Amino acid sequence: MINYQFILYALAVGQGQVDHYGSRQVNNMAIYLDHAATTPLHPRVAEAMQPFFTEHFGNPSSIHGFGRRARSALEEARETIARSIGAAPNQLVFTSGGTEADNMALIGGAMANRERGRHIITSQAEHHAVLSACEYLEQLDYEVTYLPVDETGMVRLSDLERAIRPDTILVSIMWGNNEVGTIQPVEEIGHMLKERQILFHTDAVQAFGIMPIDADRMPVDLLSASAHKINGPKGIGLLYVAGGVKLSPVIVGGSQERNRRAGTENVAAVVGFAEAVKLAYQEMESRRFHYQELRQAMLDTWRDLGTDFIVNGHPERYLPHILNVSFPGTDTETMLLNLDLAGIAAASGSACSSGSLERSHVLKAMCLDEDRSKSAIRFSFGLYNTIEQVRTAAAKTAEIAARLKR
Ligand SMILES: Cc1ncc(COP(=O)(O)O)c(C=O)c1O
Repeated sequence: MINYQFILYALAVGQGQVDHYGSRQVNNMAIYLDHAATTPLHPRVAEAMQPFFTEHFGNPSSIHGFGRRARSALEEARETIARSIGAAPNQLVFTSGGTEADNMALIGGAMANRERGRHIITSQAEHHAVLSACEYLEQLDYEVTYLPVDETGMVRLSDLERAIRPDTILVSIMWGNNEVGTIQPVEEIGHMLKERQILFHTDAVQAFGIMPIDADRMPVDLLSASAHKINGPKGIGLLYVAGGVKLSPVIVGGSQERNRRAGTENVAAVVGFAEAVKLAYQEMESRRFHYQELRQAMLDTWRDLGTDFIVNGHPERYLPHILNVSFPGTDTETMLLNLDLAGIAAASGSACSSGSLERSHVLKAMCLDEDRSKSAIRFSFGLYNTIEQVRTAAAKTAEIAARLKR
């Protein structure tokens, strides 16, 4: 496997773009189009969190005034988030992020319901936080069916229906895909499973704060979300747990989060998460409109320039902040290296957690032809991107793609 971060670093040093501590000198000129990976903290979020690092540092479990102050901030934040998504405060379990929420839903859900059966269904296009939890459960003698997706990244309801067995206890299908943005038929899946009394978990990490999510009305039992995808802090997320759903704790210790997740609560992060949710819900429509405009501006630029490109994902049912595009005849890694040197931060479809690029399991599941899947780039938009930025980025991308093809 190629160490992608090292190559980038070496190239950047060679070009005098970083000092030897690795700080980028081009940062103020760079165009960040990787918001599906993470987003910058909103200034109002930072402001809301600040007092909880210093003045209000108490442990919410302490009974004295310092503890009570922290507890009241924690519960106020829980209420804010719950109200935004139409849930009851006691239906939210704070976690260390989307990964832990997914793990808790899959492992905690499977453990608590093992008397009813040992079969789980998910899709081949899920995030590794779900797929790896499933692999872990397979080692514990659970059986997992990994549904295929069509070439737009969508799960077929008929495949799901066929995969359901009398011992199926849990289905996990994501709301919106992090690599190609495809939105799954979550409502339809939920209704199908409700009839059969099978637990339904959806990983909504990319959809949360972008798509309206009404916990009260949707047929979903468990839903994962993460703050750092919506201008909140890293290291905080939540699992929504509908009333009556049985879940075993995955992290054990103290009795925090109603015995569902032990450990001293990250009060500052929870307060920041609530502020980020508040802003996301207030501005949801305008944010979606903004992302749609940015997406269109990139596509128009490539069309105007006669660039050879193919959009990956569903043509209508997609998250507007994610745009996955293949540039036939080029190669993802080389494109990303060149884009970075040109001051454009984009990503391959796949997670790049170790600094090495692996072929995307999502594009593979979509059965795209080799040239298309080996040349895919994910651009993802955020609050502070401008039309001018994305036009510049699209023009530079077109130039690089043409050069690499030659
Ligand atoms: C769909 C999806 N699920 C889960 C995660 C993991 O979330 P976190 O980074 O908060 O652990 C991500 C992050 O990229 C994601 O996109």
